[in-house]
Amino acid sequence: MLPVVGVLRPWEDPTQLQIGRLPMHVPLGGFDRRSLDGMWSLEMFETPADVPAVAISGRRPRAVDVAVPGNWTMQDIGGFVDLPQYTNVQMPFPGPPPALPERNPTGVYRRNFTVPTKWRRRRTVLHVAGAESVHAVYVNGEFVGYGTDSRLPSEYDIGRYVRPGANDLAIVVIRFSAHSYIEDQDQWWMAGLHRSVWIESRTMVHIADVPVSTDYDPDTKGGTITATTRIDVGGDPRQGWRVRSSIVDPAGRPVGKPDEQAVPHEHRRPYSFPGFEVTSTFTLRRAQPWSAEHPARYMVTIELIDPGGRTVQVETQAVGVKRVEVRHRQLLVNGCPIWIFGVNRHDHHPDRGKAVTVDDMRADLELMRAHNITAIRTSHYPNDSAFYDLCDELGFYLVDESNIESHAYNWSLCDDPTYRAAWIERGARMVQRDRNHPAVILWSLGNESGYGANHDALAGWIRKADPTRPLHYEDAIRIEGWVDGGPAATDVVCPMYPEIADIEAYGLAGDGGRPLIMCEYSHAMGNSNGGLADYWDVITRTPGLQGGFIWEWKDHGLRQTLPDGSTRLAYGGQFGESPHDGNFVADGLVSADLAPHPAMREVAWVYRPVAVSRVKGGLRIENRQSFSSLGSFRATWEFTVDGHVVRQGVLRLPKIDPHAAATVPLPVVPDRDARDAQLTIRWELRSAVWFGEAGHLVSWDQIELRAPARRRSAVAAAPAPIEITPVLNLWRAPVDNDGFKLMPDLGRRLGVGGTAMQEWQDAGVDRIDPDELVDHRHTQRRVEGGVVHRHVVEVADDLPGLARVGVTFELPESFRRLRWHGRGPHENYPDRNRSAMLGVWEADPDESPYLVPQEFGLRTDCRWFEFLGRGSGIRVDSIAPSALHVSATWHTADDLFAAATAIELRRRDRLTVCVDVAHRGLGTASCGPGVLPRHRLAAGRYEFSYLISGSSGER
Ligand code: GAL
Repeated sequence: MLPVVGVLRPWEDPTQLQIGRLPMHVPLGGFDRRSLDGMWSLEMFETPADVPAVAISGRRPRAVDVAVPGNWTMQDIGGFVDLPQYTNVQMPFPGPPPALPERNPTGVYRRNFTVPTKWRRRRTVLHVAGAESVHAVYVNGEFVGYGTDSRLPSEYDIGRYVRPGANDLAIVVIRFSAHSYIEDQDQWWMAGLHRSVWIESRTMVHIADVPVSTDYDPDTKGGTITATTRIDVGGDPRQGWRVRSSIVDPAGRPVGKPDEQAVPHEHRRPYSFPGFEVTSTFTLRRAQPWSAEHPARYMVTIELIDPGGRTVQVETQAVGVKRVEVRHRQLLVNGCPIWIFGVNRHDHHPDRGKAVTVDDMRADLELMRAHNITAIRTSHYPNDSAFYDLCDELGFYLVDESNIESHAYNWSLCDDPTYRAAWIERGARMVQRDRNHPAVILWSLGNESGYGANHDALAGWIRKADPTRPLHYEDAIRIEGWVDGGPAATDVVCPMYPEIADIEAYGLAGDGGRPLIMCEYSHAMGNSNGGLADYWDVITRTPGLQGGFIWEWKDHGLRQTLPDGSTRLAYGGQFGESPHDGNFVADGLVSADLAPHPAMREVAWVYRPVAVSRVKGGLRIENRQSFSSLGSFRATWEFTVDGHVVRQGVLRLPKIDPHAAATVPLPVVPDRDARDAQLTIRWELRSAVWFGEAGHLVSWDQIELRAPARRRSAVAAAPAPIEITPVLNLWRAPVDNDGFKLMPDLGRRLGVGGTAMQEWQDAGVDRIDPDELVDHRHTQRRVEGGVVHRHVVEVADDLPGLARVGVTFELPESFRRLRWHGRGPHENYPDRNRSAMLGVWEADPDESPYLVPQEFGLRTDCRWFEFLGRGSGIRVDSIAPSALHVSATWHTADDLFAAATAIELRRRDRLTVCVDVAHRGLGTASCGPGVLPRHRLAAGRYEFSYLISGSSGER
């Protein structure tokens, strides 16, 4: 039996949060530190009760080597089987809380470490940055401590247990605990030591914490920095210890004079002992405030000086001078409203699970910023400290979220006194660790845990401990109402997946004092994010609305090697686990290995820092940044007629203040008879910055100056080289928003999901010859060099809203290059095409970009489309309407629908072409609002015509 915890069994007890753990503090760097990252030995057991005492100190021939940081669920652990399991709301085992499953894999991590002789007569501290779910620490066979909360560090004073030279460390990690019930986030259940482990040496008397608070006054432009240094006096305090605090500005210049104060030592004075702490306030007459746009950081240096005058510890803290407040239904940073151009981000790596490196984090941030994302909700737990450092330095606004989600029991645990202490500790420890990070603008009490007294208890603690940041908690407003619900727990109205009409109504009503910032919206599962720009149309024109966080940044696919040696990115259920929630875990804007999905272009467009629109008198240029001019961008314009560039130039601009707009005259006036005349304005970086080269496109807009002509006919250049027979097509391989093809019961269980797929199947749209489903007349007329096709389709009322009305045909493989005049260059759909500019584009057919195969590859509003072979090509000209939607891929809709995973898809040797007069939008019904009415296909008459002819082929 495991010493001490084997008897106490704290993992079964929600009230047992820690044994022997040191208090949390801001990250400190002034200690002599030795990393213990690397290969450790790991021995697995079926349950914690099975672990014999010898496992923590004896020889263990059964143990295997694994990497730390790492999840054992992602590594080869010999014969023992313990794999990732994905569940969303449901727990992976039956419950009720705090009951645990019979099989509860437990890993004993072991390694040696060396304690240098010079560490004698000092404190030796072990730091465990993250262990899922709970862990117990043993040094040289003796029990040291126990910790919960898998997403925050635990520290233990191991001085009593170590000796100079070689020592033996064991960390026992238990996969499930009573705390798993409040770590029920929508993600893979993993296990192990997924963050770093180190030991460090502290002097007996040392700086234990340095919370720094700052303020910026937008009226006077002055600021303050207040550093409180807490000293661990290591026993009976001695007189004569001093703390010297000083600061330097972002350019490295000292500000004011260092402040030196004595550390209080008279703790026996009744009523008046101030604590072993020293507070220094620095007043800045003119401060350089921190914002995501200008992440200016001051350095605070704290020196601890012993009674002999020697400096024994130096700590530096990078801080930002800023003020965050909610006023007049606005979230203000430094007195100015900001747009929340946000995403939700989980820690995820396809090979390492929850063990992400600083390089991984930076890669995420670079790709985000290159797509104009400037705000992140750390859904749904605190990240590694390094992540906050990067966000401080690079400039991101963070909603820092406590590691609390009791989703499966969200009506009970939030009021359960046995979980009360856990609630408070999780949020409080997060604040204690992260409070010095300027990037954090809101504290979040967690996610989807109902709303109970435990929340208000935590909120009260945070409000007192850090009055400089407002609070965020979604369930408080979901349960108690947007206007004035849950004010104790949230200062912002932060709904998830609201209807556009509802947020608009909230904004327009003007009730309540809180701004609305969606904590989650636009669910990026598969081919999705339809209507994203519609949200922003409303957000930008409605007072009280400030944006939100898209769900979510990355698919959680996990790389899995199959018996035949091939690999795939796996989703829930593909590890043979039960229960599971399938591919609901794959709902990111980028793939698990960081390939942006096509919707990322739309994200970059809706989140662009400068927006251009047509107004009377010219172009309205709106600077959507809060603190920057447009000086770092070069603006050019391009005037096209019929897709051909006619003129271009540099846009002349007056000075446009942050958060302001100006009108400039049109740079070009089209000829009276010009048709299909478009003006495109592009904003590029003038010089390279951390996320992009000079020339990187940050914003773009296209303004239609003249609509396309209504065409009666088209002129063919040459006959098509082969005979083409278009057939009616009403079906698309359902996207995740149309229905969950792999998980018929998921929608019912979660109360989410689209119904279109089921309706199409019920009506037989997936299998019945479309000519039997609708009334369809198809006429063909040979014209010189081509054939004009005309279709009239009558869709009866009793059919469900269709996926598309159009035609399809196949082309031989030789026509493998595409050129079109329409929206592009990237994939776009009627409700996700604002980022896609009209132009003449050329590309190869798209590869399927989604983890679960589904409809992909459409280009909307095509005036013409060419399929280019060597020496000859085929061309489709839209006649009426003047633009049609076209896709050309190597897969049929049926192939896509039949496949459950991307690797099953076989590329056909024929190109499947679809030409649609109408194509249903994508919406976000997999979790959230469906397709807006104007992007659904109503019953009625659809008429369209086009010319098929030959073209010159590849050049
Ligand atoms: C929300 C939840 C997220 C995720 C999302 C759907 O309800 O907060 O964690 O589950 O829905 O993907």
